[in-house]
Amino acid sequence: MKILAIESSCDDTAAAVVEDGRNVLSNVVSSQIKEHIVYGGVVPEIASRMHTQAICAVCRKALADANAVMKDIDAVAVTYAPGLIGALLVGVNFAKGLAYSCEKPLIPVHHLRSHIASNYISSKSLEPPFLALVVSGGHSHIVSVESYTQFKVIGKTLDDAAGECMDKCARVMGIDYPGGYNLDRLCKNGNPRAFVLPKPKVEGSDYNLSFSGLKTAVINIVHKFDQKGETYSVEDLGASCIDTVTDCLVKNISKAAANYGFKKIAVAGGVSANSVLRKKMNSLCAENGYELYMPELKYCGDNAAMVGSQGYYEFLSGKVASLDLNAYATMNIEIG
Ligand code: KG4
Ligand code: ZN
Repeated sequence: MKILAIESSCDDTAAAVVEDGRNVLSNVVSSQIKEHIVYGGVVPEIASRMHTQAICAVCRKALADANAVMKDIDAVAVTYAPGLIGALLVGVNFAKGLAYSCEKPLIPVHHLRSHIASNYISSKSLEPPFLALVVSGGHSHIVSVESYTQFKVIGKTLDDAAGECMDKCARVMGIDYPGGYNLDRLCKNGNPRAFVLPKPKVEGSDYNLSFSGLKTAVINIVHKFDQKGETYSVEDLGASCIDTVTDCLVKNISKAAANYGFKKIAVAGGVSANSVLRKKMNSLCAENGYELYMPELKYCGDNAAMVGSQGYYEFLSGKVASLDLNAYATMNIEIG
């Protein structure tokens, strides 16, 4: 079964053709980073307009790269939640029009479910059940993946996501958007012990996370240096920030794996590209004999191949949308 998948939840316009959930025939991503960089973050209105401009060409290219025309496609899958509402609506409406005019089923796909599915592309043998750490710009979740379409949230951030925290810490240090990505690139040789940053203790759950205190601490440190007219090492502060964020993530996923008895762990989402997180997850899993799954770097950030993968399993479970499908800025992964 060949699915044309569309993703437009944030600042990437993406389309892909995926066969049987695992085999990527094409994967096209048109990034808007250059447009948002001057603002230091994604401007939702600009994102929607740019999706509108790019989506037709991106879908055409995905079909051409897969050597396919719409006649060869069995269904259209699209990200419908969660994300920037205007951005999502561009993809959803385009997918609705395409599905209707070409008489194909329309499959709605939850963004975080699709991030998890990026692991099915990179690791052909991976099957649920497993434990997933989903870390992106908008979300940080620890999820029990019970089947391809059944999920249970074990823990999540109570405020900022890991990516959001690193983006904002980077911004106050004068590093360009996307800060998390650039922080990783620029701070590889920094001393992660140079600054002692707060690690939140979240009451009520062993698995929930919180990153807003850490973000504020980094902002305050930078402001104090600035007020005194003193300089600091961006490399050291950046490395300390990454070290603290990744420590929190690894500590909680480690507790969840041990207490719930998981032997398989998958990491997903934009922050799964982080080199320190990948190293720490490798060590955790090697020490405990866990199987570790991480997407190839090209599937960590937003892309449509992962939507085509999850869309396939959603379709198999009977999930097909009618033409009144709406987009939603927020939606629980368990419901989506
Ligand atoms: O999944 P994603 O592409 O979009 C959302 O669904 O949010 O994740 C984007 C986030 C951004 O916060 C970006 O800074 C972060 O992922 N990111 C990274 C790295 N690459 C992307 N954070 C840390 N290290 C990286 N190498
Ligand atoms: Zn994402």
